[in-house]
Amino acid sequence: MIDNHFVVPASLTGKRILLGVTGSIAAYKVAGWVREFTTRSAEVTVVMTKAAKRFVSAMTFGALSGNRVYGDMFVREPEELMAHITLSREADVLLIAPATAHTIARLACGMADDLLSAAVLAAKIPVVVCPAMNTAMYTHPATQHNIGRLCDLGYHVIPPECGELACGEEGAGRLPEWETVHEKLIALFCPQDLKGKNIVITAGPTREALDPARYLSNRSSGKMGYALARTAARRGAEVTLVSGPVNLAIPPGVETMQVTTARQMQARVLEKAESADIIVKAAAVSDFRPKNCHRQKIKKNQGISPIEVEENPDILATLGKRKDKGTMLVGFAAESSNHEAEGRRKLEQKKADLIVVNDILRPETGFDVDTNQVILVDAGGSKQLPLMSKEETANRIWDHILTL
Ligand code: CTP
Repeated sequence: MIDNHFVVPASLTGKRILLGVTGSIAAYKVAGWVREFTTRSAEVTVVMTKAAKRFVSAMTFGALSGNRVYGDMFVREPEELMAHITLSREADVLLIAPATAHTIARLACGMADDLLSAAVLAAKIPVVVCPAMNTAMYTHPATQHNIGRLCDLGYHVIPPECGELACGEEGAGRLPEWETVHEKLIALFCPQDLKGKNIVITAGPTREALDPARYLSNRSSGKMGYALARTAARRGAEVTLVSGPVNLAIPPGVETMQVTTARQMQARVLEKAESADIIVKAAAVSDFRPKNCHRQKIKKNQGISPIEVEENPDILATLGKRKDKGTMLVGFAAESSNHEAEGRRKLEQKKADLIVVNDILRPETGFDVDTNQVILVDAGGSKQLPLMSKEETANRIWDHILTL
């Protein structure tokens, strides 16, 4: 039976973002963020401080958001008279980016002398603040004290990044990257039901060298494992991702260990297994490796000789054998036939608590695509999930793990 229930958001689709822009040169970067939000079907309404308008025009934000841009507290239009209160009532989150030292100081004091600061005081929604400024200004005890105060008030402060600043100096103070902020905003809408859980996830293929140029591997893209890591971090878990060679961005807030071979993956996983509450083996581990790795490139004129292979350790089965302290073990099974039966065989043979089975022959659930449709096989039975994005599938897998 297909289970169609869905709860945890995997995107900002349909979310209403009230964006406060203040007077920093980084305001030009935030104009690009508005475009990123709207292409993800989020609704953006912008409030600019007077100083912000000296860096980027209100017309830029108006054109990119498709909405009226707010600025003045005292206006003639009757519908704007209560904007300092209504703006946050019509939004799901208030994001202030870039936030200058001056704005941060004013918010820390609870001032309400312009539209943005008044809207912050009136807000009953989460407030996210992205400081951006020169390093000396950022590290000054006054600014640090004010940021501490914002955290005490329950605002979410995303620390600036280190690097070259617009003023020519280097250090902490750069506006965070869009991906970091995007991830933080999605996390605000996710339940923190994995908080306190230590989770190890493996992803991607392994490569087993035959000579300096060639290896045995498989078509795994790592997308499912990375989606699991990203969604677990959003739901509050401490995540370690042990990744084979893939071409994917590391999810923000996830500790990542890069490996190449099955034996390297095994060493990393066993090292982390002691403190793990849940281990998810989404990696497509090479079952075999060439017995000999040639030191020199094998030449065509040497003729074809059979490649002698030996078996790699089965990491999931090894974990299943030593399972003693209640670590939950989740495996994957990429199958081309007998899906459910194969999933159950692997569940029993490897002593896993859950096997997630998918069909590698269907184009929408096969390799390197963004969607998946899986069957969850555990001791209590099996359940097929609908065809969804890999992030939605990942959320549903976490939902299921939490019920076990
Ligand atoms: N796995 C593992 N170590 C291996 C092989 C597989 O940890 N050497 C894990 C995978 O990460 C996955 C599960 O075992 O979670 C099932 O992997 P799969 O390749 O489907 O199973 P195999 O044991 O290789 O069985 P078969 O070749 O019969 O399909």
